[in-house]
Amino acid sequence: MFKKTAIVSLFTFIAASYMAQTHTQPVYLDESKPVEQRIQDVLSRMTLEEKVAMLHAQSKFSSPGVPRLGIPEFWTTDGPHGVRPEVMWDEWDQAGWTNDSIIAYPALTALSATWNKKMSWNYGKVLGEEARYRKKDILLGPGVNIYRTPLNGRNFEYMGEDPYLTSKMVVPYIKGVQSNGVATSVKHFALNNQEMFRHTSNVNVDDRALYEIYLPPFKAAVTEGDSWTIMGAYDMYKNQYASQNQYLLNDILKKEWGYKGVVVSDWGAVNNTEQAIHNGLDLEFGSWTNGLSAGTKNAYDNYYLAKPYLDLIKAGKVGTQELDDKVTRLLRLAYKTTMNRNKPFGNIASEEHKAVAKEIGEEGIVLLKNQGNVLPIDINKAKKIAVIGENAIKIMTVGGGSSSLKVKYETLPLDGIKTRFGKQADVQYARGYVGDIGGEYNGVKSGQNLKDDRSAAELLNEAVELAKNSDYVIFVGGLNKSDFQDSEGNDRKSYGLPYNQDNVISALAKVNKNLAVVLVSGNAVAMPWIKEVPSVLQSWYLGSETGNSIASVLAGDANPSGKLPFTFPVKLEDNSAHQLGEYPGQKGELAAGKGKDQKNPINITYNESIFVGYRWHDTKKIKPLFSFGHGLSYTTFEFGKASADKTTMSQNDKISFTVTVKNIGKRAGAEVAQLYISDMKSSVPRPAKELKGFEKVYLNPGEQKEVTFTIDKAALSYFDADKHEWVAEPGDFEAQIGNSSDAIKTKVKFTLK
Ligand code: BGC
Repeated sequence: MFKKTAIVSLFTFIAASYMAQTHTQPVYLDESKPVEQRIQDVLSRMTLEEKVAMLHAQSKFSSPGVPRLGIPEFWTTDGPHGVRPEVMWDEWDQAGWTNDSIIAYPALTALSATWNKKMSWNYGKVLGEEARYRKKDILLGPGVNIYRTPLNGRNFEYMGEDPYLTSKMVVPYIKGVQSNGVATSVKHFALNNQEMFRHTSNVNVDDRALYEIYLPPFKAAVTEGDSWTIMGAYDMYKNQYASQNQYLLNDILKKEWGYKGVVVSDWGAVNNTEQAIHNGLDLEFGSWTNGLSAGTKNAYDNYYLAKPYLDLIKAGKVGTQELDDKVTRLLRLAYKTTMNRNKPFGNIASEEHKAVAKEIGEEGIVLLKNQGNVLPIDINKAKKIAVIGENAIKIMTVGGGSSSLKVKYETLPLDGIKTRFGKQADVQYARGYVGDIGGEYNGVKSGQNLKDDRSAAELLNEAVELAKNSDYVIFVGGLNKSDFQDSEGNDRKSYGLPYNQDNVISALAKVNKNLAVVLVSGNAVAMPWIKEVPSVLQSWYLGSETGNSIASVLAGDANPSGKLPFTFPVKLEDNSAHQLGEYPGQKGELAAGKGKDQKNPINITYNESIFVGYRWHDTKKIKPLFSFGHGLSYTTFEFGKASADKTTMSQNDKISFTVTVKNIGKRAGAEVAQLYISDMKSSVPRPAKELKGFEKVYLNPGEQKEVTFTIDKAALSYFDADKHEWVAEPGDFEAQIGNSSDAIKTKVKFTLK
């Protein structure tokens, strides 16, 4: 008996040892080993061809892994407001799936307008969950290009004009998305501040403006947010395309900031193999995207980082050092995403997701003006409500370029208003004007037919008659997502509202004093009628919950607390890029027809340097229509006198400012305390003041809270281009605290030693 057991045990032992030997896990799959060691192991097993294959797309939105080793493909998706529907392998046309519709979240301008970092994390988390559920590994966003001109067609995808606000708002978004094992790709690095000539321009910007205005959000995204990828831009800087740019990608991103992640090209932004190899690009997309139909066996082999690279290596013309670095970065990304066994499974269109979309919409809406407290709508007096304007009935999630979506639903403003007020009031609609009747992007159709053949006069008359006979008038207009409006690829042609809207608004104001204008846009617009209109709401593009968020603010269920993330100038010429003449490009070159193709790029010089947005308006004392940071509430807040914990600080010190904010009105609400720093005397030109802190506080009626801001010398510094370092000049400074850049309530002086 004993003998038999011993023999069986011996046999089992030998078998187990044999199995262990033959089935030893390779190091790269062994989760007990450090990731960098696992990466080295994969590298040692890969062939040259496999390495090069990893560096470029295999389809519109995916790149290969290493099939032989079981390393998965990377699947990317736009970004940044929801997960884009599936397109064909090689074409932009829809793949025709029926399971790829999602929740659309508010545009990034709206998120930024919440001035609420918690909202940004919530946004990232739920969006990341949807991306994960759709089996995506890299989300192409968020966008953080600074708002330089109100004409930029893509401003709606970005976070405004201020580097500090953008930096603080982008970091939680990134962390939220990446908590799902889905990478973000912060874009477009860098200096892609207009759509016109985006493929054919060279931006000239001084180092101070580069470091103080345009780079900080990207730096925050990679150093604080740890964005696992970053997307290069289309334009040129120092006459090199941004997605293959020595200065931006190698010198600044990878050397100065120590970036260990992956640089992804914008789609079709690469055009030179040598530069792509040597100047810091890691992953190439979109270069030649019409491959198979052109008769080439495999279009993707012709990418700049494909066969041409392999040929150079095989011919001994370039080494493999850059190649290994690129592959190392991609494998590092794989361990965080595709090969991450601990990532959650994600989910889609949950009640939580809808609630987040609605809440961000409500918090992002900015009450620009509210004379006579026309808003919120008094439900006891509003027996008949007129809703007027095309944007009340127009789907906005379809269009605008790569951020276009296929949604599970989109609540239109008119529907939201009907749902909220329809039980107590008679809600009637009139169009007022006809703008864009289309609604299709890349084969996704809005399904709406907005054709209306009536004349402008007929449409206007109908609206005026309705307004006359109503208790309240809500005009819902603004811009839309068609070409030359808030849309990728082109800029707006003018600053004013399109489609006769100015006339319609003025006519409505004449017949009904209870008028609220709701502007749906991602950009500032001219408001020649502003004095005639008592109430204006800036509502942005709010995605699936648009109508519900707007109705909630109109009714006062949500008390508006959004603040403008960029200045609304009175007229275009008041904006610094326009006043100093360098938009859309250098005048002489423009006249000579430059910018038409890549052989004749046009120069765009940022003459205004650091004086962008409120930095310009404040310093030059040019009164804006609505200032950066502005936004009203249905209640009133009072700021106490600010105090500092010291009067003098040394270079290594910190200093804190404390202020009390009190709700002295009758409704609960939220206020954003904003800290601006002003350098009283400087050896270099400096803006009148700069945002260096903000905090949103929720207060019940009568409640007060203390807000404390702590800063160090970074908040006092400017970038010294000659020394290539940040300098805080000793001397007097002032902390200015208020609820808008043009509403400073309290100031404290202090000295830097
Ligand atoms: C856009 C990117 C986008 C990419 C993929 C490009 O044209 O500039 O923002 O992520 O296309 O759709």
